[in-house]
Amino acid sequence: MTSTLSEQQLLVDDPTWWRQASVYQIYPRSFADANGDGIGDLRGIISRVPYLQRLGVDAVWLSPFYPSALADGGYDVADYRDVDPKIGTLEEFDQMVEALHGAGIRVIVDIVPNHSSDLHVWFQQALAAAPGSPERARYIFRDGLGEDGSQPPADWTSIFGGPSWTRVPDGQWYLHLFAKEQPDFNWDNPEVREDFHQTLRFWSDRGVDGFRIDVAHGLTKDLAEVLPTQAELDAITEPGAHPLWDRDEVHEIYAGWRTVFDEYSPPRIAVAEAWVDTPRRPRYASADGLGQAFNFDLLEADFDAAQFAKIIADNLALSAASGSSTTWVFSNHDVVRHATRYALPARNGRPGKQGRDWLLSGGTEPVADVDLGLRRARAATLLMLGLPGSAYLYQGEELGLPEVADIPADQHQDPAFFRNPGVDPGRDGCRVPLPWTRGGASFGFGSGTAHLPQPAGYADLSVEAQDGVAGSTLELYRAALALRHELQTDETLQWVEAPDDVVHFERPSGWHVVTNFGTEPTALPDGEVLVTSEPLDGGLLPGATTAWVRSA
Ligand code: GLC
Repeated sequence: MTSTLSEQQLLVDDPTWWRQASVYQIYPRSFADANGDGIGDLRGIISRVPYLQRLGVDAVWLSPFYPSALADGGYDVADYRDVDPKIGTLEEFDQMVEALHGAGIRVIVDIVPNHSSDLHVWFQQALAAAPGSPERARYIFRDGLGEDGSQPPADWTSIFGGPSWTRVPDGQWYLHLFAKEQPDFNWDNPEVREDFHQTLRFWSDRGVDGFRIDVAHGLTKDLAEVLPTQAELDAITEPGAHPLWDRDEVHEIYAGWRTVFDEYSPPRIAVAEAWVDTPRRPRYASADGLGQAFNFDLLEADFDAAQFAKIIADNLALSAASGSSTTWVFSNHDVVRHATRYALPARNGRPGKQGRDWLLSGGTEPVADVDLGLRRARAATLLMLGLPGSAYLYQGEELGLPEVADIPADQHQDPAFFRNPGVDPGRDGCRVPLPWTRGGASFGFGSGTAHLPQPAGYADLSVEAQDGVAGSTLELYRAALALRHELQTDETLQWVEAPDDVVHFERPSGWHVVTNFGTEPTALPDGEVLVTSEPLDGGLLPGATTAWVRSA
């Protein structure tokens, strides 16, 4: 499926390319390992460009590949303008961009602005400098409480568990909303703001097409002289009133970033990771800000017709209001893979992270219905790929990979696993390196063993096992992504009357998407059946199945 040069040129010049793109998330350490050291690398990605092209995605988003001590899987960045030597070099990065662009695939990189690594040169300088120095003013340092300052400035709990303030040898404390190796920047400091403009230009100049903004609802903080307690923070419900999250001032920063994005042609794009109340999301997605924001609503939903229909309707209305296109996500490097979530009992719309308790039990309690989970995941994805807006896919979901639940405790890597023992199972189970072949030391991931253990079941889920096999999950994704290009149309849909357990909508091109969330087979509209997530049953759509139909 090679596109012609003129097609590629068209892609490059289109400033709206992102609006309905399918974007494939690569977690570089776990994608493909070219040098056999057990860690995925840029040369590994280059070697798999033909695979990505054949898959049919419009863009890739790379999770951090920057120098990092991996206190948080690379989201602890020691240098924002370099490549980790274990992953590659800047030269290889340029080669990767060239190879991806040559295949008509755009490149989005992850920017982590809320915090750096404690190994970042600025933090090291801050540690070496005195309290009150300009070096310390790039981060958030405070004196402690109590006569000798031995109590933290506040009793806050970090996202990964444990305290949010850590003491340095001279007695001061610094703030880290995540791991202690991730000190929060002081975004009131113009030097910090200027430095991120430089970083955005650095990667834009290297041909990067856009940015995924980590914890975009962090950054600015309103830190009073006397800090509130954790209990007081927890009691804040008014939107925009929290001193640490989702402050209105953060949008001034993104307005500045927009001027940087617009220095390029086509303008660089950005997508915000902002875990905020749904009505607060459009500001992150506004055209004079980041332009697009993740919508995690489907990711938190059960496999349920009413929940899906409401989420779709609400988000289309929301994106129409912001002028952005909406985004859809089922899986990423932070959550239990959707093939596994859907194998577990429904949570009946309760918010929160599905599958965590199951992971804590080592994947035994309750018993996961693996076949049903995969079947639902395929149906859900085929529905998503028919929706208006951008679809974000996470590496391995095209193979139907389940969450890995039996990683031995001593082989875990995620700080969340260690900081909150027995409470947070961590996120390693979705970060296990991909299986490319049926056999080999790491199922073709590399020539050595992989940095996280892979389960034996990976053999049958490998690319090799699914390539060219009718009905495989890989072939379903390929077929759907190719058809999506062909059928793509205005960012609208029309609901079609359907039984309670069925979601049915039509896009302007006569493209019908019908998902049966129930168990009883249901009728399909008249027309040509283009693709189905499972075989039809005597012309009817079986339970937990999606079909695309083109009406005459
Ligand atoms: C985001 C990332 C997550 C990381 C956190 C801190 O939520 O997706 O992986 O741990 O930010 O950077």
